[in-house]
Amino acid sequence: MTTLTINPSGKVFEAAPGSTLLQAILDAGEQLVSKCSGEAKCGACHVFVTEGRKGINRIGPLENSKLDTLVGIGSKSRLACQVQLGTEPVTVELLGALSGF
Ligand code: FES
Repeated sequence: MTTLTINPSGKVFEAAPGSTLLQAILDAGEQLVSKCSGEAKCGACHVFVTEGRKGINRIGPLENSKLDTLVGIGSKSRLACQVQLGTEPVTVELLGALSGF
């Protein structure tokens, strides 16, 4: 299992390596909108991965293209549906109204 810390609530959740960040956030009982069933098309699952970026998969072309269309993107931006958790602890910041709309 890998430790996922979800801010701003500060909730700590043990997630299975290989699961998506989106699924782990939802399993932890947090709210994160997904309008495209995790296909990197809606951008609604935009989050900041603030720690543990080296332990997750890199941004792929599909995710990169969608991120380019969103407002409020930074170097820590990821689409939670495209992030595969590894074994390293990860800290994520949910953006609420700042998600990709
Ligand atoms: S759920 Fe639509 S881009 Fe992630």
